[in-house]
Amino acid sequence: MLTSMWKVDKDVDRLITYPQIVEAAQILTKNEVVALPTETVYGLGGNAESDEAVAKIFAAKGRPSDNPLIIHIANLNQLGEIVKEIPDMAKKLIDAFWPGPLTLIFNKKIGKLSEKATAGLSTVAVRMPNHPVALALIEAAQLPIAAPSANLSGRPSPTTAQHVHDDLNGRIAGIMDGGPTGVGVESTVVDCTGDIPVILRPGGITKEQLEGVIGEVSTDPALTDHTQAPKSPGMKYRHYSPNAPLYLVADGVNKIQELVNEKRAEGMKVGVMTTEENVENYQADVIFPCGRRVQLETVAEALYDTLRAFNEVDVDIIFGEIFPETGVGVAIMNRLTKASGYPII
Ligand code: TXA
Ligand code: MG
Repeated sequence: MLTSMWKVDKDVDRLITYPQIVEAAQILTKNEVVALPTETVYGLGGNAESDEAVAKIFAAKGRPSDNPLIIHIANLNQLGEIVKEIPDMAKKLIDAFWPGPLTLIFNKKIGKLSEKATAGLSTVAVRMPNHPVALALIEAAQLPIAAPSANLSGRPSPTTAQHVHDDLNGRIAGIMDGGPTGVGVESTVVDCTGDIPVILRPGGITKEQLEGVIGEVSTDPALTDHTQAPKSPGMKYRHYSPNAPLYLVADGVNKIQELVNEKRAEGMKVGVMTTEENVENYQADVIFPCGRRVQLETVAEALYDTLRAFNEVDVDIIFGEIFPETGVGVAIMNRLTKASGYPII
């Protein structure tokens, strides 16, 4: 399949009338799939009402079919059409954080959405992305858009159109290039179907921000206790991994340098994933900074690009620094431990 590339300036007025948006929206209504920028990561969008479109999303990514998709909407009318009810806590969260990097789980209204999009569950994940290109495209298509991250399953999520192209060129109808995404990690997923809200996946909106609006929020215990099955099906898979094994190290620069020296003595090419503060403090074959430690948002923004960059260089093993688990640091550490797959050294 030939994959079209459309460049779109996200800052122009009346984006919804732009030829690229109109063309991509038409393709969506024909149940083909296109990648689109959001404020978190690029998504692979398709008509959420169509089994055919949803099947194409799963096929293009190589995604397991038991892992449901997030439905992206551009206005609250669309929400009313796909959920059974909107609990009070969800209303407050919507007021505070939509459009934005927050996905809410609702009880699903039967009959509207493709059963494949929700993997046959009785609930549905919905979010309104805070990105002019995504919003214009959803409005233009006049459809709820199912959109997982636009990476091949298992790879780091894409934060640029180039990342999408690297993974999915030839497998999808088109890619809308709206420039690099901002937040860098995916949306926070919050289950609103019970008595108190539960974080199923940490992300761009922090626990502290949620609690500032609705009081106590709990976190799915499976996120830290790996003997339990996560309530969000996607959280059980290894994910985000670079090709070379990545080991996270708790003890800081000296410990990492010691490990680097050991592996180099064995003849390995060694990479270090650090931050701008520490780049000068290592000697290794490849040293990539990932944002600034003093501002964790910059680490989130650079995270997937840095993980992907290690696939472009010749390294046999990577050692990485860890981050404090406060604010967006929770999401960063969640993704890093999944990317690693090994216990922290
Ligand atoms: O920021 C984001 O959320 C990005 C952009 C493109 O919007 N999308 C994204 O989608 O990260 P995806 O498919 O990579 O991750 C969706 C997550 C998965 O962990 C999935 O299991 C979970 O949401 N999910 C979807 N529907 C659910 C449901 N009904 N109950 C629990 N978890 C659900
Ligand atoms: Mg994903």
